[in-house]
Amino acid sequence: MKGLIIYVTAYGTTRKYAEWISKEINIKTVSYKKVDDTDLKNSDFLIIGSFVMAHKLIISKWLTNHKDLLKGKKLFFYSVSGAKPGAKELDDIFESSLPESLLKDASTYQFGGRMRYEDLSGFHKLMIKIGCLIEKDPATKAEMKKDIKVAKDNVNPDYIKPLVKDVKNYLNKK
Ligand SMILES: Cc1cc2nc3c(=O)[nH]c(=O)nc-3n(C[C@H](O)[C@H](O)[C@H](O)COP(=O)(O)O)c2cc1C
Repeated sequence: MKGLIIYVTAYGTTRKYAEWISKEINIKTVSYKKVDDTDLKNSDFLIIGSFVMAHKLIISKWLTNHKDLLKGKKLFFYSVSGAKPGAKELDDIFESSLPESLLKDASTYQFGGRMRYEDLSGFHKLMIKIGCLIEKDPATKAEMKKDIKVAKDNVNPDYIKPLVKDVKNYLNKK
């Protein structure tokens, strides 16, 4: 069985998780920017990691553009977010970001990310400020305001364990 880990990252966290997974199951990692159609066609299963931005998985558009090539393959998706895995705001993160046809037989996992406002690009800082202004839910708004003042770090290699276990089970059954 041929597998590939595809990730999209801005500040490295999603790539770090891809590398940790790669070590456990011994398959290659590649940025979504560098993956070509042949890599996708030749893979039986794919692990696809994306960070969350403005309540969506940033890889959403790429997946929609490649959904025909990914059809019929076993897919494992993981999200990396400022919000803690299991948080209410992540409830429908996969449903709202991924084409239904890909999600149907996929497995999904949430991993913790990190964010330090001072380290963000000017554009991302602006996005956070605007997001804060337009957010309607008071609890989410308060959380976003806090994110500007207090750095967040929920990165933990243990998050990959359920995904690694499921991939190993999947491979053993084949
Ligand atoms: C502009 C911007 C918007 C973000 N929006 C969200 C969000 O809506 N929900 C969330 O949980 N995390 C959000 N985050 C936090 C990122 O998901 C988190 O920092 C993640 O670890 C980034 O992954 P990376 O290091 O692979 O780029 C946002 C981060 C940035 C920079």
